[in-house]
Amino acid sequence: MHKILVTGGCGYIGSHTIVDLIDHGFEVISADNLSNSSEAVLDGIEAITGRRVHNYAIDLCDLAATEAMFKAHDDLAGVIHFAALKHVGESVEQPLRYFRNNLNSLINVLDCMVRYDVPNFIFSSSCSVYGNASELPVTEKTPLEEAESPYARTKQMGEQMVHDFSHRHPGQNNILLRYFNPAGAHESAKIGESPTTPASNLVPVITEAAIGKRKALMVFGDDYNTRDGSCIRDYIHVMDLANAHTKALQHLIAGKQEAPVSVFNLGIGEGVTVLEAVNAFMKVTGEKLPYHIGPRRPGDVVAIYANYKKAADQLGWAPKRDVNDIMRTAWNWEKVRSQAKEEV
Ligand code: NAD
Ligand code: WQD
Repeated sequence: MHKILVTGGCGYIGSHTIVDLIDHGFEVISADNLSNSSEAVLDGIEAITGRRVHNYAIDLCDLAATEAMFKAHDDLAGVIHFAALKHVGESVEQPLRYFRNNLNSLINVLDCMVRYDVPNFIFSSSCSVYGNASELPVTEKTPLEEAESPYARTKQMGEQMVHDFSHRHPGQNNILLRYFNPAGAHESAKIGESPTTPASNLVPVITEAAIGKRKALMVFGDDYNTRDGSCIRDYIHVMDLANAHTKALQHLIAGKQEAPVSVFNLGIGEGVTVLEAVNAFMKVTGEKLPYHIGPRRPGDVVAIYANYKKAADQLGWAPKRDVNDIMRTAWNWEKVRSQAKEEV
């Protein structure tokens, strides 16, 4: 059984990926300092998989603590590095905090992988590396434009660091996964998105508005040059995204990767407007969603969606779910989460 270290394993995408990894026969340990999560998610993972995952509640910027963990697990087959701060607006306010956290943690993880001979690495990158993309759909060859935020720059720099690292360490195999807009929750509603900082992404804002945690959803602009005037994004279900990590890992472990670093876009390959997402939510759940049109949000790109053909061809991966599945599972999770809070 291959043992994998998942950093950020208590977070949103990390926790769903752990479930998929266990479902595919991997043994998993997690390292998460709980800066945007809680270990309660491990109960959910256990309820789904029957396995208790151990979390090292360490800050990966702490090299000594990180190294001690690697030393205790000198048989790792790979690392999936999710741990990072991820709020675009916050990164504009606190750029150094973002550079310090996202880059130092990556440096320490790569350093320990060399010291302890861990051969396979997967890095959570983001469609934000494309900036205001010059072509649609975006392929992995689409040029990277100027980063729109310090957060996006940490992803561009992180990718670059992995490339430079690979030149010096040709025995290491690396995959950079560029996620588009992850959303939705596990079908069981036992895990989902539960950040300790306020949500700002569209889907959690929708479910929070529908359940009454916030007054309404504000749609950021309906005067863009799109089919209904609202922005277009590529929303990918978190379990499809999770499965792409499993496939990427299997690809690396099987020695199928030809280049030291490969990059893959992960989206569903279709653009959905904000108003289409709103309508999908109401149709799928039968709930009313209070919303109103507001001004454009500074920094928003008009439209972005992925071409995922490379992941399909090389990893044998394809998304199975759509925006309706995202809304249904996100809503089920919101109901469970809100009920649990009421009972406390
Ligand atoms: P998340 O905040 O839910 O999970 C990240 C986890 O990392 C958190 O649990 C946090 O506590 C932990 N963490 C942060 N810094 C740490 C550190 N120094 N040491 C140890 N743990 C630390 O975020 P997510 O949505 O699951 O995102 C996972 C990854 O995917 C991140 O790298 C993010 O940038 C990237 N990504 C996310 C999205 C998205 O929209 N969710 C899109 C593209 C890329
Ligand atoms: C989606 C659409 C908003 C909230 C961000 C990061 C990106 C990546 C994914 C990490 C946009 C609209 C939203 C609301 C709205 N993350 N919206 N009202 O900005 O596409 O991408 O998450 O790597 O780097 O930038 O995602 O969910 O914030 O917005 O109208 O209250 O929903 O304008 O068109 P975004 P989002």
